[in-house]
Amino acid sequence: MKLRITIAALALAALFFTIGHLTAQSEKKMSDQTMQNLSTAMHGEAFAYAKYQLFAAHARKGGNVKLANMLESTAKTERFEHFAEEAKLAGVVGSDADNLKDAIQGESYEATTMYREFSEQAEKDGDHQAALRFEEIRKDEMKHRDAFAAQLQALENK
Ligand SMILES: [Fe+2]
Ligand SMILES: [Fe+2]
Repeated sequence: MKLRITIAALALAALFFTIGHLTAQSEKKMSDQTMQNLSTAMHGEAFAYAKYQLFAAHARKGGNVKLANMLESTAKTERFEHFAEEAKLAGVVGSDADNLKDAIQGESYEATTMYREFSEQAEKDGDHQAALRFEEIRKDEMKHRDAFAAQLQALENK
């Protein structure tokens, strides 16, 4: 009887130790290099997801159902396993307000800096179609930014 209690106590202690260890590990701040690598990896996984979906659509249109299904299934692994696991490690998702602030920052950068510069550069190089597309997308990003900002405002006024 006494042995059983001791074993139970030890098992309980081990459980607490494991949980404590995991908590301590997930709360531990990662190095700048690891965070940078996580970001690079996430960009790659997200890009692969989007690209494989396009490849899959192309294969499906051409009647190659087997290849289309295989590409789609691989795309899902990139997005729902690899990207999601890395995002969790990097702590990408926060509160709704934090997520909106993050999204506003990204859309704002795209709208006011990135696409503006890309469009101007393309026009200068004579890549008129690309310049037009960048400018059109830039306007979409402004709408995204403003819609997110309105949501954030509504959230803060609650
Ligand atoms: Fe992957
Ligand atoms: Fe956007």
